[in-house]
Amino acid sequence: MEEIKINTGTSESRTLLDEPIANFSKHIPSGKKVIIITDANLRKHYENLFQPYAIIEVGLGEENKTMSTIETIMGRLVELEADRSSFIVGIGGGIVCDITGFVASVYMRGLRFGFVSTSLLSQVDASVGGKNGVNYKGFKNMVGVFNQPEFVICDLDVLKTLPRDEFIGGFAEIIKHGAIKDRNLFTFIEENCNKALAFDKEVLHRMVHDSVVIKGKVVEADEHEKGERRKLNFGHTFGHALEKLTGISHGKAIGIGMMMAAEASVKLGFLDAEDAKRLEKVIAGYQLPVQLKIDKTMLLQAMRKDKKREGEGVHLVLLKGLGTAFIHTVSYKQLEEIIYDMHCCQ
Ligand SMILES: NC(=O)c1ccc[n+]([C@@H]2O[C@H](COP(=O)([O-])OP(=O)(O)OC[C@H]3O[C@@H](n4cnc5c(N)ncnc54)[C@H](O)[C@@H]3O)[C@@H](O)[C@H]2O)c1
Repeated sequence: MEEIKINTGTSESRTLLDEPIANFSKHIPSGKKVIIITDANLRKHYENLFQPYAIIEVGLGEENKTMSTIETIMGRLVELEADRSSFIVGIGGGIVCDITGFVASVYMRGLRFGFVSTSLLSQVDASVGGKNGVNYKGFKNMVGVFNQPEFVICDLDVLKTLPRDEFIGGFAEIIKHGAIKDRNLFTFIEENCNKALAFDKEVLHRMVHDSVVIKGKVVEADEHEKGERRKLNFGHTFGHALEKLTGISHGKAIGIGMMMAAEASVKLGFLDAEDAKRLEKVIAGYQLPVQLKIDKTMLLQAMRKDKKREGEGVHLVLLKGLGTAFIHTVSYKQLEEIIYDMHCCQ
């Protein structure tokens, strides 16, 4: 087991990489009333490990990441007589972790909580960094809090029960971490595609480890996303809009979103076309799509509604090279020109 600490100055979170899921209760402070929040798929595979704790099950899918789910969970917490001495454990992918962190942060003004992160996307991204929240009135992650989990258990073996498509989707965020912050990691991702897709544990260990370290450092520098943390949105400003418009999965949308951001970086003269080609090859190598025909007016509208917009502009995350991202704030007029010029837009 390898421990990676993220210290924001006000709190510390420990990621426990390669800690078996069966050991999760060892990390819960003694004397606590423990309540598990999970979903039906995790229950199906691992419920025998959840005894003797109370379980609250949330529905599957993004449509359940809502305030009404939060209310239902709070109702169950009241029934279970959860109080400030209770400890909440979210066991699941990004949806369970986002919901758990939020409800644990607001119920009785905050209970202690930790995660067992069970999807690749959640291990490398969603469970790292303390952003917790739900969607609201169709806007993604519109309501939430910054609050670090005490621990995040990442057992690579649980990824074996993850549906293949979900496994593949996680690589989009790993590629993102290499592309924005670490050229060496990018090259490693590039060179180890077949091994990673074939579940080589050493390769996956390095990818999850480096992703947590990269994201952790960014979060330590800018927990509340005033500047540096925005770089983690590489591919997401376009990707979230695509996800909303087409219903494609997060990983696929981010694959295409990263290519759109790379195309914009090339067009604006920041990135070599060769580097953009390299990125495209890596994304495609991990069986993720690199383009999509989409109505450009609808895309622009959807991007205007994204909560990452601020005032009259949009913070685009662009690349100067593989491993180096920067924030480029553009007006809506400039964004329109960029989008209308893209080859993946109709
Ligand atoms: N908080 C953040 O910083 C952050 C960052 C990125 C993404 N997110 C959020 O994460 C969510 C996506 O997370 P996700 O991709 O993990 O989706 P998810 O939570 O829906 O999990 C994907 C599917 O896999 C199943 N599953 C998960 N682990 C499994 C396992 N080990 N075995 C069998 N089935 C398993 C789940 O039940 C679900 O059906 C989105 O809501 C996104 O907004 C949050």
